[in-house]
Amino acid sequence: MWRQALFALLVLASLVEGCRYKGTHKDGETWVVRSTFVMKCIINPDGGWRTTIVACQTPGGKQIQPGETVTEGDTKVECTKMPDGSVRINRHYKAKTSDCEGHAIGESWISKRNFNKTCTDKGQKIVNCVTDSGIAFNLNSKYTVSGIIYSCLQHTDGTVSIVRDNVSPNPKADMKPQTIVCTVRGERKNAGET
Ligand SMILES: *[C@@H]1O[C@H](CO)[C@@H](O)[C@H](O)[C@H]1NC(C)=O
Repeated sequence: MWRQALFALLVLASLVEGCRYKGTHKDGETWVVRSTFVMKCIINPDGGWRTTIVACQTPGGKQIQPGETVTEGDTKVECTKMPDGSVRINRHYKAKTSDCEGHAIGESWISKRNFNKTCTDKGQKIVNCVTDSGIAFNLNSKYTVSGIIYSCLQHTDGTVSIVRDNVSPNPKADMKPQTIVCTVRGERKNAGET
């Protein structure tokens, strides 16, 4: 008898109300991760759930859909859906060469969070990129940290792009539904049911 009671208790404890990603999220709910990606909770009728990245958020806080591009000041922000289903955010930034934003020749400063600039006698120049947490990495290189692959790309027109891809060791793993089957006193229950 106690065994059954314990079992029922464990089953109740494992009932899921929604997607679990740093807390619980309801079906259809969206939230922003790492200030750049919009994640959505999807609960299937069988109680399985998955999270998927559905859109991008610009540094200005605007949410844009895959395929959309917006310009915020001197930055062009692009949101793209990749063939493997992942979502990429791309920021193209062209440093104005006319002035050094008040800095003296030889000085360096971080601009737009991810670009390290140096003032030269010919105006400002982007010398390398930095991650959101401030780790420097070279132009035309990649750096992976906290689940994000950053790429820093310099183009011939002087634009530098910082690209963020979401890391998934197996890109399909993110997409795979996670099924939770609960049985309460012999009756099958879906996640969210009480
Ligand atoms: C920025 O660039 C300057 C000049 O190359 C360098 O000395 C400095 O360490 C860089 N800072 C970062 C955070 O990348």
